[in-house]
Amino acid sequence: MSDNTPFYVTTPIYYVNDKPHIGHAYTTMLADTLARSHRLLGHDTWFLTGSDEHGQKVQEAAAARGVPAQAHVDEMVLRFQELWERLEITHDDFIRTTDPRHTKVVQDILQDLYDRGEIYQAEYDGLYDVRSETFITEKDLPDGSSLANLPDHVKVIQETNYFFRMSNYQEWLIQYIEDNPEFIQPDFRRNETLGFLRKELSDLCISRPKARLSWGIELPFDPEFVTYVWFDALVNYISAVGYKSDDAQFARRWPVQVHLIGKDILTTHTVYWPTMLKAMGVAMPKTIFAHGWWLSGRDKMSKSTGNVVNPLDYADRFGVDALRYFLIAEMNLGQDASFTEEVFIKRYNSDLANDLGNLTSRVLKMVHTHCDAKVPKGPTALASGSEEAALWTHVQQAVEQMDHQVRSMRPDLGVAAVMTAIREANKYIGARAPWKQAKEDDKQPLYDTLYVALEALRVCSALLYPVMPAKMTALRNQIGAGEALPVVEDLRKYGQLAVGTSLPESEGLFPRHQKPKPAPEAAPKADPKEKAPAAEQVVTLDEIGIDDFFKAKLKTAVVREAEKVEGADKLLKLQLDVGGESRQIVAGIAQHYSPEDVVGKTIVIVSNLKPATIRGIESRGMLLAASKGKQLTLVTVDADEFPSGAKVG
Ligand code: MSP
Repeated sequence: MSDNTPFYVTTPIYYVNDKPHIGHAYTTMLADTLARSHRLLGHDTWFLTGSDEHGQKVQEAAAARGVPAQAHVDEMVLRFQELWERLEITHDDFIRTTDPRHTKVVQDILQDLYDRGEIYQAEYDGLYDVRSETFITEKDLPDGSSLANLPDHVKVIQETNYFFRMSNYQEWLIQYIEDNPEFIQPDFRRNETLGFLRKELSDLCISRPKARLSWGIELPFDPEFVTYVWFDALVNYISAVGYKSDDAQFARRWPVQVHLIGKDILTTHTVYWPTMLKAMGVAMPKTIFAHGWWLSGRDKMSKSTGNVVNPLDYADRFGVDALRYFLIAEMNLGQDASFTEEVFIKRYNSDLANDLGNLTSRVLKMVHTHCDAKVPKGPTALASGSEEAALWTHVQQAVEQMDHQVRSMRPDLGVAAVMTAIREANKYIGARAPWKQAKEDDKQPLYDTLYVALEALRVCSALLYPVMPAKMTALRNQIGAGEALPVVEDLRKYGQLAVGTSLPESEGLFPRHQKPKPAPEAAPKADPKEKAPAAEQVVTLDEIGIDDFFKAKLKTAVVREAEKVEGADKLLKLQLDVGGESRQIVAGIAQHYSPEDVVGKTIVIVSNLKPATIRGIESRGMLLAASKGKQLTLVTVDADEFPSGAKVG
């Protein structure tokens, strides 16, 4: 049943200076998966992400490049915005801390707290950690250093600053956390915060003198100072949804259902933020959920070690949905998880290429061959005690588990339950042996098997849709469920696929990938039991040899004719002349070029690509184009008289 329950989810706002890495991508994909699940449930969903754009590091980076700070952040933020587009992120809003809608609210809050005596001025004499931009005490110094032997990033400073009376709220906060177990999750993180609160809480320094840092939001009551980055950044969660600017929107969205954060920013979110909200008189978030870290193998990812995983590398090689699937399936939320290419390929091959891919291709091949590519008529009801009923029970368990586990913030277990149902469906196919049933005169048992398997795929593809939106939409289209969003109510009902629906040509969704070659010195002995993977698509390493490059035969081609592909708004069908030979290719450029635009152009194609069938149309080759964000331009050869069919490279 769809209802209007509001669901507001946030990610941390990312430091704009950083190059987006797998940690950023993870939290954002997780939020996206949750948002998509809640949208399917009909909940009034709002998904916020954004960028944290003030502070010392940004000021320094802009100065080093010799550009104004605002111009610097305007450029840097695009890296995040483009990545989110690429990763199919469906945020409803992207807030930047340099947006006037945000800076104004921060200033209003500061003025209000100052007027009410919650903020006061005092001398500060102590240690300052330049790296984390925080004031620290002697206890916080790294091992091996002391007041007499400070590390380079810690300075002794003496300055006037403004402080927020955070200490006033210590007792209240402890009580609130104890009374509301869902407030900080997982439980062990709640205990961590309570542990932190056993020490006396000091007041929070919320200003920085402009003489030291000018790139920040000016204090409305003292223009010599800017706001401390965290006091600025945390406010994004309310400034973006109308706090002090749009009461109706704020009442609709706040309190937030879940702030998703990484474990390293627990204190700022579970101590600073609640006390700030309390002082403002704003309701508490329902849940602050801290997930663990992605490690590179067993090591922390760090720029200096050079082991940071770039999400785009994986999206490019395996597809965005495979990356989304891996991140959601592999991490037990709360714990750290290990990211390696080997684990990635293993899970990809076993879950996606084998279990789901095999089920889909076996069933669809039989439907295309024996049912005239139409959804066959299966049993109208499932006889109790039958193999069909047993499979349906597994599928229904997956529905229940997904619902329960997403609510419990264990989407990995939800996904695992769906994979169990998929494996059961494969077993069912094995037991029913439709290839044998196809040889019988009476075809009804065959139709029954295939229909029930299609129904299992219908439900499983809907359950996996929030994790792999593009692939599951393609799969649902291939099984005759259409391209529309899955309807949650239909998941519990058997027999929703309309008998007689014509199925489009099907393509493999998850080609198998080869395991990466181990480094020579670490090469284990070949395991003779291991089957050779199908050579459909071979993973390339980041660097390739010249021989690899020359495997692709690039040639010039002249576009003779072009037309739109019916029912596919991204595709153009092109007739090419490649050195006298005619060729047809299907290219995803229709949103950038009209047919008239491309006719007559000399383009570059990969001429030795295996033929593929796209939307039922044969495509022999692939054209080259350059793309950035939403822009795309064809690679063309600039010479009127230049012959087609010439070698490029
Ligand atoms: N700007 C602050 C957040 C302000 S929110 C009001 C910030 N930004 S960040 O870009 O450094 O980090 C954003 C998030 O990425 C944090 O939640 C952090 O835990 C997460 N991750 C950074 N590295 C990570 C991994 N290796 N794995 C998983 N998440 C990690 O902090």
